[in-house]
Amino acid sequence: MTLRRPVPAQPPADLYGKRRRDRTIRVVDAIAETRLRWSSLINRRDRAGRVDDRRLGLTVIERRVEAQDTDVVGLLLAAPDGRELPAWRPGAHLDLELPSGRLRQYSLCGDPADRHAYRIAVRRIPDGGGGSLEVHEALGIGARVMVRGPRNAFPFVLPGYGSDSARLHFVAGGIGITPILPMMRMADRLGVDWSMVYTGRSRDTIPFLDEVESFGGRVAVRTDDAYGLPTAADLLGEIGPDTSVYCCGPVPMTAAIAAAVREMPGVELHSERFSAPPVLDGKPFTIELARTGEVVEVPADRSALEQVLTLRPDAAYSCRQGFCRTCRVRVLAGEVEHRDTVLTPDERADGDMLICVSRCGGERLVLDL
Ligand code: FES
Repeated sequence: MTLRRPVPAQPPADLYGKRRRDRTIRVVDAIAETRLRWSSLINRRDRAGRVDDRRLGLTVIERRVEAQDTDVVGLLLAAPDGRELPAWRPGAHLDLELPSGRLRQYSLCGDPADRHAYRIAVRRIPDGGGGSLEVHEALGIGARVMVRGPRNAFPFVLPGYGSDSARLHFVAGGIGITPILPMMRMADRLGVDWSMVYTGRSRDTIPFLDEVESFGGRVAVRTDDAYGLPTAADLLGEIGPDTSVYCCGPVPMTAAIAAAVREMPGVELHSERFSAPPVLDGKPFTIELARTGEVVEVPADRSALEQVLTLRPDAAYSCRQGFCRTCRVRVLAGEVEHRDTVLTPDERADGDMLICVSRCGGERLVLDL
């Protein structure tokens, strides 16, 4: 999601607050700009639907507990022959094909400059559909896993390289730190002015705490056990009108920040959430599974995927936000109200539907399930 209000264009300040960057920074910026333009080209291809479906067999070469409560594990994945891996930029994720056949997406949280390993981190969610438990239990050191990507659904635009903002503010909630960490690292490396608030239940539950605190005074760690539940104002701090906010965390947190930013002229918001978005303006409808004749009702506030899962618990899905295509099904009858942003007009005309977000434009859909 991106909310943006126009601000007057101005050059970004460097690490020392100067508007004119020194010569070294200009050289680093020129290199970075070239890389970012290339990355932007890759990302445009993603958004246009011409996805690079590289499928790689990788090996787990390192496994670490990344939160003191032991519920977050970090995995380092590398090619078995040690070859260089496809490049990525902050905000990118991998699709993991787990041994059970489940497909799950995890943000890359390592250093994009490391071309020989990808790092992901996974929080154990006991009632989350089994994907995270499988990662925790089945992916030990030496395990092989197929991945697709990297792809980027949370693009990071630096001030001076496509964003009119002069500075950055990051907000991460718990495991939401994963896409934010590489952004912080890049901003810091390029001398962009930035700040960050990291929140979660307690210091024991939030991963990569040492890594985050190594950035020093730019970072504020604000846990619920010490300060209570944060408000949007607590998380946004004293940001000015020329700031881009990058936010990743639970739905209530991202929703509260989105509502606050709407009232802040000149502030951009870029956010990624963990779970399915709430259904807005939904109307109830009926789904029929063509191959069995089973029928299920979809209430106004539930997704078609949720209701299909009550009949077919093994139905494929991953992001639940309408961008990974995993839940695509063929519609045999009925009018679809498409709410995704990735299916092409031809795919829609052929009857494809992403049932995690799209709904029925009438009263009944017949799905090829
Ligand atoms: S689950 Fe990803 S598009 Fe539906």
